[in-house]
Amino acid sequence: MFKVGIITASDKGSIGEREDISGKVIREIVEAKGYVVEKAIILPDDEEVLLKEMIYMADELKLDLILTTGGTGFSKRDVTPEATMRACNRMANGIAEAMRYYSLGITPRAMLSRAVSGIRDDTLIVNLPGSPKAVKESLEYIIDSIYHGLEILTGQTGDCAR
Ligand code: MTE
Repeated sequence: MFKVGIITASDKGSIGEREDISGKVIREIVEAKGYVVEKAIILPDDEEVLLKEMIYMADELKLDLILTTGGTGFSKRDVTPEATMRACNRMANGIAEAMRYYSLGITPRAMLSRAVSGIRDDTLIVNLPGSPKAVKESLEYIIDSIYHGLEILTGQTGDCAR
């Protein structure tokens, strides 16, 4: 059973001015796949705050997977990828590339997501875009492959044969 942390990056959400629907969508999708959500938090679009929480979830809570939503666009306040890159010691670019590749078939605006994905020691961190629609489209596409990646990361399998 892999342990998951959800971080919603949203200035408005963090002060209660916007409901966190995207965080709920993530929870529904991962729980349906058998993951356990250990922590879900809404934080402002602040690089230091986001970085601190990613490090806490990885190093202290020892979560297997951190999924973020929001803050991947072009607004000056969008800094989730920057926090994620600082938290990771090995990038896993293929996951973010796959999300954009798939999403471009739905909307050309998918190219505007700066989402990244990478590994901090034993924890995989993946950025998802901010809207509930984008979260659902992106996460459903990558979730099964992520599971296999986590099996390898945690040493539960080294075997990629089908
Ligand atoms: N990806 C999918 N699958 N579906 C979408 O509707 N919206 C895009 C993009 N990725 C979208 C998507 C848009 S309009 C933007 S601006 C970027 O994600 C960044 O979103 P964020 O700033 O909310 O993270």
